[in-house]
Amino acid sequence: ELGVYEDFMMKEIHEQPEALRATLAGRLDAEGRVDLSETGLDLRHVNRVVVVACGTALHAGLLGKGLIERLARLPVEVAVASEYRYADPVGDENTLVVAISQSGETTDTLAAVEAARYFGGKVLAVTNTRGSLITREADAVLLTEAGPEICVASTKAFAAQVAALDLLALELARVRGTVSDDELLSLGRDLRRAPEKVAAALALLEGKTEAAVELFEDARCSLFLGRGPAFPVALEGALKLKEISYIPSEGYAAGEMKHGPIALVDEQCPVVAILGEGVLREKTLSNVEETAARGANVVAIAREDDAAADRVGRVVLCVPDAPEILRPLVWSVPLQLLAHDIATDRGLDVDKPRNLAKSVTVE
Ligand code: F6R
Repeated sequence: ELGVYEDFMMKEIHEQPEALRATLAGRLDAEGRVDLSETGLDLRHVNRVVVVACGTALHAGLLGKGLIERLARLPVEVAVASEYRYADPVGDENTLVVAISQSGETTDTLAAVEAARYFGGKVLAVTNTRGSLITREADAVLLTEAGPEICVASTKAFAAQVAALDLLALELARVRGTVSDDELLSLGRDLRRAPEKVAAALALLEGKTEAAVELFEDARCSLFLGRGPAFPVALEGALKLKEISYIPSEGYAAGEMKHGPIALVDEQCPVVAILGEGVLREKTLSNVEETAARGANVVAIAREDDAAADRVGRVVLCVPDAPEILRPLVWSVPLQLLAHDIATDRGLDVDKPRNLAKSVTVE
């Protein structure tokens, strides 16, 4: 079943283009038009969105929040399911609750859905598992089509969740008229290139992690930094690394460094920085320069031929240029590969990290 791959994690990282293609298929046509009528949801009266999820799915939710707020101008709350279920949450029948779960069986996420029932919220389940419990609890279902994910650490299911939320953001923007038709179609056509761009990232990064892995050989801990859409990607990169390599790793908004975490920085605390684009890239660069000045070994995730990245990074992991909507997916690829290669370098079983289960059906 593994084919040419040494483990399921590597296989599933490489299945991301296919997971994206299958998740977009039938929901996004060649002109860039989105069709989510399969959900049967009437989105016209939605005035607020709440995302409930755990772990990696929560990070996909944070990316969804950014896009829904920017395009559809709706307030979005992203809630940790285990907290939300006991929080006596606020909402009404116009609140759309988006419950994201690869397995569809996560107890805390199911309980969060139940909590949303008290205020009459409509629940959309974004899940990878047909017939799972959550598909029965929700009002509507948007299946991610990543195929079975065997590795405990989620990769291709995450990519598919991000794509599903991108579709939802475009659909909410269309229904609400917050983005012009032309721009919506153009964003839709960009989104259609997700499989191609993620495949390009995989090709570009093949066999390129060695120097970065070396920086982690004596690591006590590590920090993952990003701003804007790169922040949730940093959180996900840190989660991936800590769960399979057992190196304490934290994701931080790059601008928060000076409020505490920079005290951690020394030669044994590598910093992985997703530089991003535009104004945020400049801001991130200056935050990362501060860590480098304090001795951090920086792994910069940047576009090819980025001279500033070469200056600040001991190692640069290059990603292809991509339309804005696809960048979080593209940035995720080097972080997944890095986590995988650091853990295998330590002789660890990446598919079955200690203390973890694929599906968390206890509280
Ligand atoms: C991390 C990981 C977990 C899951 C979380 C939710 O790699 O896989 O954090 O994302 O346990 O699981 P689902 O999506 O099945 O509800």
